[in-house]
Amino acid sequence: MEEINRDSFIRNVSFPPPEGFKQRANIKSFEEYQSLYRESIQSPETFWSKIADELHWFSPWTSVLDESDPPFYKWFLNAKTNIAYNCLDRHLEDHENKTAIMFEGELGDTCSWTYMQVFQETCKFANTLLSLGLRKGDRVAIYMPLVPEAVFAMLACARIGAVHNVIFGGFAAESIRSRILDSTAKMVITSDGGYRRGKVLHLKDIVDEAVHGCDCVEKVLVVRRSQTELLPCQMTEGRDFWYHEVSSNKSSSHEAERMDSEDLLFMLYTSGTTGKPKGIVHSTAGYMIGTYLTTKYIFDIHDEDVYWCTADIGWITGHSYVVYGPMLNRATIFIYEGAPNYPNEGRFWELIEKHKVSVFYTAPTAIRTFMRWGDDWLTRRDLSSLRLLGSVGEPINPEAWMWYHNVVGQQKCPIVDTWWQTETGAIMISPLPGVTTCKPGTATLPFFGVDPVILTEEGEETDYGWLAIRKPWPSMLRGIYGNPERFKQGYFGHWEGKYYYTSDGAMKDSEGYYYIIGRLDDIVNVSGHRISTAELEGVLIEDPVVVEAAVIGVHHEIKGQGLVGFLIIKEGSDGQSLVQRLNELVGNKIGRFSLLDKIVFVPELPKTRSGKIMRRLLRDIAEKRELGNITTLADPNVIEAIAKQFKDS
Ligand code: WTA
Repeated sequence: MEEINRDSFIRNVSFPPPEGFKQRANIKSFEEYQSLYRESIQSPETFWSKIADELHWFSPWTSVLDESDPPFYKWFLNAKTNIAYNCLDRHLEDHENKTAIMFEGELGDTCSWTYMQVFQETCKFANTLLSLGLRKGDRVAIYMPLVPEAVFAMLACARIGAVHNVIFGGFAAESIRSRILDSTAKMVITSDGGYRRGKVLHLKDIVDEAVHGCDCVEKVLVVRRSQTELLPCQMTEGRDFWYHEVSSNKSSSHEAERMDSEDLLFMLYTSGTTGKPKGIVHSTAGYMIGTYLTTKYIFDIHDEDVYWCTADIGWITGHSYVVYGPMLNRATIFIYEGAPNYPNEGRFWELIEKHKVSVFYTAPTAIRTFMRWGDDWLTRRDLSSLRLLGSVGEPINPEAWMWYHNVVGQQKCPIVDTWWQTETGAIMISPLPGVTTCKPGTATLPFFGVDPVILTEEGEETDYGWLAIRKPWPSMLRGIYGNPERFKQGYFGHWEGKYYYTSDGAMKDSEGYYYIIGRLDDIVNVSGHRISTAELEGVLIEDPVVVEAAVIGVHHEIKGQGLVGFLIIKEGSDGQSLVQRLNELVGNKIGRFSLLDKIVFVPELPKTRSGKIMRRLLRDIAEKRELGNITTLADPNVIEAIAKQFKDS
């Protein structure tokens, strides 16, 4: 690992939890945290079975953890449960009238559902899926805007045991297609459209392009976004069905499928170090317990809270902390469909004021964007309902943390900086808001059951190096769909399989607080979205004039990281029109959220004698640093030419 100035990470300011918050918190004292944490590490089986008792099981487990075939760990063996039952049915007896979902569309349309109503809608959705031939174990792709029906669709899949594969609405047809094919999805659930930044997104058209020639897809179910108008879309006879038509005579009760603890709950594709995204799979019981417990203690859910996580359901944060975690805790969740700057930059603050949001969870990139838009948008609003703030997706820089604390939180809201991954299923390192003294820029301490360690490449414990996790935990991924070997090698192939490899670098201070430095692999974190440089390079070289491509992530003020591509092109190609063409290619193949910030045409790429591209040197050039060690470079002269091209472009 490259050496860094460690002192620059450590902050001397610290913020203990506000007294008022502490008194009402679900965990009130640091001693309580320590003793529960100790138990969770020393006697995980006792600890987790006590937690599991807070949820509903159709039949109990015979043992808590099976470690006989690492890294294929199993939790809550032979038990039967259902996460949708635990999110809905379990709350009906005493809380059927509690508001479950409050929704606002980008155009300002609002509606809300009680837990009873969400239960009924989900059952109706489940019966509709069954009537269309979907069965337990079938894979279903969901490509929808952020509307309550997307939540019903997810819960309905979980209810009947179908494995959902939610695909972020920003992905282009080709990315959708590869996810559908890899998961052999039998059905796609989509919508006629959605609203974003004042535009209509024609999702169904994109799905039509994506499923063209996908033999596995038998049916496409189309939910209408608006009750008052249908957005125009082409319906293919025999394959496409309107949800409102098929569901109209379906019952709003349904008995949840009895799922085995280890039955797959969902899969979610995420970028890996190769060009091919990997389908991370999560199982039923472990994921349920992990998201339940983290939400309860980290977001400190109380009955009167209005909880808003701004993530899209297409990402893991949307799964764990828009849908499952909060609903397992009977929270009132708020969902907003649209962009933060529609119709103006004050929309989020207006929403918080109007819906009296009390717990707000967003990403550092959003916080930095709000800072740039200016405090005026907030100061004219009453944000006094807020009591807790959260951050996720990338390291939060201390300036953004301080602004979040001072301007959004009015110095009275604890901030939980939560570190975790698609693979971990639930939050792993985070403050507990009533207990942990926070310092800007650190995710602080491990959550229950999480045993992190920082290692050198050789596997020695250290305080600056590779972040690894020592023990299995319930919500951990159960594998990569269809590729057990890649799972084993990628996550447990280091240090003789003794640790889960996170791909993140981290540092620990004298109080044991963890500072996450960022990815050590070729994943770039753009606005909190994981993007694989290999996947981008694969797309760029599809253009006939591109001979070779190297994409790197560089520091970006707002997005955290931006993307720069260094390309060798055939002689005589016209650079300017090519930039536009290449960006169109990336937009059409992956999605517009992966566009490159800068494309530089170079005569050569810096390579080692064995032909490996030295991306580190490209990063040094792009971030205008002094060049690191260049002795392994095959031809040191290329550097100057690349640096000149970078400056001129
Ligand atoms: C990064 C998102 C620093 C990290 C939940 C990780 C963070 C990757 C934080 C996973 C944080 C996430 N501080 N870095 N609080 N949270 N990351 O799978 O590099 O989309 O490996 O899951 O985001 O991204 P993913």
